[in-house]
Amino acid sequence: MTTCRICATPIEAFMTFGRMPIANGFLLPEQFRDEYFFELAPAFCPCCGMLQIIDQPAPEMMFHGNYAFFSGTSRYMQAHFQRFAQQVMDTILPGRADPFVVELGSNDGIMLRNFAAKGIRHLGCEPSENVAAAARAQGVNTLCAFFGKATAEKIRAENGPADAILAANVMCHIPDIHSVAEGFKALLAPNGVVMFEDPYLGDMVTKTSYDQIYDEHVFVFSALSVQNAFARHGLELVNVEAQVTHGGSMRYTLAPTGSRPVSDAVHALLAAERAQGLDKAETFDRFRANCEKSKADLVALLTRLKAEGKRVVGYGATSKSTTVLNYTGIGPDLIEFISDTTPIKQGKFTPGAHIPVKPYEDFTKAYPDYALLFAWNHKAEIMEKEAGFKAAGGKWIHFVPEVGISE
Ligand code: TMP
Ligand code: ZN
Repeated sequence: MTTCRICATPIEAFMTFGRMPIANGFLLPEQFRDEYFFELAPAFCPCCGMLQIIDQPAPEMMFHGNYAFFSGTSRYMQAHFQRFAQQVMDTILPGRADPFVVELGSNDGIMLRNFAAKGIRHLGCEPSENVAAAARAQGVNTLCAFFGKATAEKIRAENGPADAILAANVMCHIPDIHSVAEGFKALLAPNGVVMFEDPYLGDMVTKTSYDQIYDEHVFVFSALSVQNAFARHGLELVNVEAQVTHGGSMRYTLAPTGSRPVSDAVHALLAAERAQGLDKAETFDRFRANCEKSKADLVALLTRLKAEGKRVVGYGATSKSTTVLNYTGIGPDLIEFISDTTPIKQGKFTPGAHIPVKPYEDFTKAYPDYALLFAWNHKAEIMEKEAGFKAAGGKWIHFVPEVGISE
């Protein structure tokens, strides 16, 4: 029997996406034979409201010295993290003597470099050695470790308490949220805050963006589930702020219970989530039906275009695309290649589906008839950049919030 990672209530999967490989496990043909698969099946806990996947591969299989995800490649994301850092500097740090900021999963230092540039004491905690090295090369202090109580105690012993603990697209990756919460308590100054943001369950349900569910995302949070998960550790949800990043995210602020007022935004979002049914299992039965329709529509569209002799390529070999490709069974017969700007992915093949990943230039040098936008969360940035594709008669295929062709 499987139990909820937060509250230990027995839970069951409401659907399965089938056999899945490691989402960021881009590979070479000689590695196909030994490729690792697990079953990707999400469950909703009716007791605490946490959406979670039943099985998750061991963290070492996902975050290691060859991790393929570099945050700093998107210009929009750089600007986003600059604003996040500025918000912390303007609202949390003023009046504190020699403040100290810690970030979990600091990747290539895209957020902390803003603190480093201002001479503010900071430390990133990043388990993948290759991205940690990229951060250090930019002057961002980085400890290569997974964050938990022991790491938090070590950081505090060496640096003193943290005024702000930050995390972006990281908390939803960590299965032992209780150990992280204990780490927050061990490291946080009495008047300090934790601010973290992750893809938001409300958006996932509204947009049928099932591609938010993949091995690294063990949880998809809502305000309800975050409040429940941290209350038991003496941390209170005191603010929420919606973000457009990653296709719809939420920034949560936690503080020691009773230390800060709870904002109106928290009360409003909790009420909106109840109205949307994010606290009810039936909502996820509807979500499953929407996923099945999305899958059938996408396969039908690509099959028709192939029959018409059209060239279709993918745009952005995202981690999310691993769920889409393996759930729908779409492979190199329907998608010629996927272009991506990340050097470590180029020349490799996508996990499970084994579609070639080619450099961005392969897209521009001979435009296809259709481009399937896997990096839909970067749509604004990409549309701005790719006006030439449209001008040349190219068309975009989208699958969020529903499958279609953008005219
Ligand atoms: P993400 O959705 O997890 O942020 O990953 C985005 C992927 O898309 C990453 O591999 C980089 C790639 N990408 C491009 O190839 N071109 C672009 O213009 C952007 C913004 C991203
Ligand atoms: Zn639960």
